Formats: sequence, C-alpha cells, structure tokens
Amino acid sequence: MTDTASPTTLSCDTDSNFHDPLSDDSVDINKIKSPISVDLTPIFNFLGSRTSQGWVTAALNNLPLIIQDHANCEKKAAGTAMNLMFRYEFSFELQKKLAQLIREEMLHYEQVLGIMNERDQVWQYLSAGRYAKGMLKHKRTFEPEAMIDVLIIGAFIEARSCERFAALAEQISDERLGRYYRYLLKSESRHFEDYLTLAQSLSDDPIEERVQFFKTVESELISSPDTELRFHSGDPVLI
Ligand SMILES: [Fe+2]
Ligand SMILES: [Fe+2]
Repeated sequence: MTDTASPTTLSCDTDSNFHDPLSDDSVDINKIKSPISVDLTPIFNFLGSRTSQGWVTAALNNLPLIIQDHANCEKKAAGTAMNLMFRYEFSFELQKKLAQLIREEMLHYEQVLGIMNERDQVWQYLSAGRYAKGMLKHKRTFEPEAMIDVLIIGAFIEARSCERFAALAEQISDERLGRYYRYLLKSESRHFEDYLTLAQSLSDDPIEERVQFFKTVESELISSPDTELRFHSGDPVLI
C-alpha cells in the first residue's frame, strides 16, 4: 500500500493567536484563523497506519460525497459527545470537556453546511460506512470498561479524521477547502488527546493494552479493501 508520506507538520498562513479553542472561530469560514502549524507526529505515532494514496485519489475524485460524509461525521461527533454527557454525569472534568467538544463539533457542522451551501451542494442521504461499527462491536458491555472503550474509539476516530484532513489538504487543488481542512487539524488533534486523557482518567490501570487492541482494529479497517467510499473508509476497491 502506498503511503501518502506527508510531512509531520502542516503549515498554514495566518495568525499566531490561537489560545482559546473557540474564541477565534467563526461559522463563516472566510473569518476563520488557521493555526500556523500543527505537529502531526503524535497522530502518526498513535495510528497504526497511514492513509493510502488510493483513498486520497478516490476522495479527491468524489469531493461532494466526502463533503457530505464529513458533514455527517461532525454531526455524529457532537451526538456521541452529547450521549456521553448525559450518560456519565459524575465527572466535572468529563462534563466540561464534552460540553466544549459538542460546541466545537457543532461549529464544524455549521461550517461544512456553509461549504455545501456555497457549492450549491444539495444534502443527500449517505449510509454509514463500516468504520465506527467495526470498532464499536468490540466495545465491552460492562462499566466502566464500556465507557473507556467508547472514549478510546473516539480518540481513534478523531486522530484518523485529523490524519485524513492533512492528507487531503496536501493534495487538494481547491484552495478554499484545503485551507479549511488545515484549520480543522488543530481541533481534531486536540480532540484525540482529550478522549485519551478522559479514558485514562476513568481507569485505575493503564489503558495501553486496550489502546493497542483498537489500534490494530482501526488500522485493519482503514487499510483493508472497502467497496464503499466514505471519509473513514478503507482502501478503495472499484466495483
Ligand atoms: Fe470536528
Ligand atoms: Fe473532533
């Protein structure tokens, strides 16, 4: 499988003031401030594989589908965080992080809706791919292990999103989308770490073994042949 071999840091123009996660953001993507650079090394180290050139090429050739699925992903990310917020109310830290996550994911959702609108892209139903289901089927059924697994899976989804935005940003010819995907790297890389920290905070024992387990499962889902193209799909197979 070909590796996209992107550099570990992606740079973008603009402003160095990027402290408060939401203070510099706007629903209007004309007003967003992209980070100067995001070090992707922790993401690449965390994930067990890199996105193939095959997926990047297929995604760039099917941008409306990828944009639609991206919109779905942002909405699902907010929904997942909202479910966790209602289900696990005992931790202040968890509630605070989840509330912030929901705001950020909803902001991303609005931004993607704006992108669809300016491209005259009509909303289309798109079924979910195999990716999240493929990990969630391994979730343990008892607490707090179930929650720890959901948070670890969340970390992988966020990290993979970040890695894919970076891969797309590097090769996309649409400058506006490229800039937007670079902008997303900052928050998605933070989200992956937030989820991991929360998972560890709920366990007295190290979660490393579980992380390694999901690393293998996730990598297999991303690297194995997949007949469907989605934001988190595997290696595209022409049918
Ligand atoms: Fe997001
Ligand atoms: Fe996210």
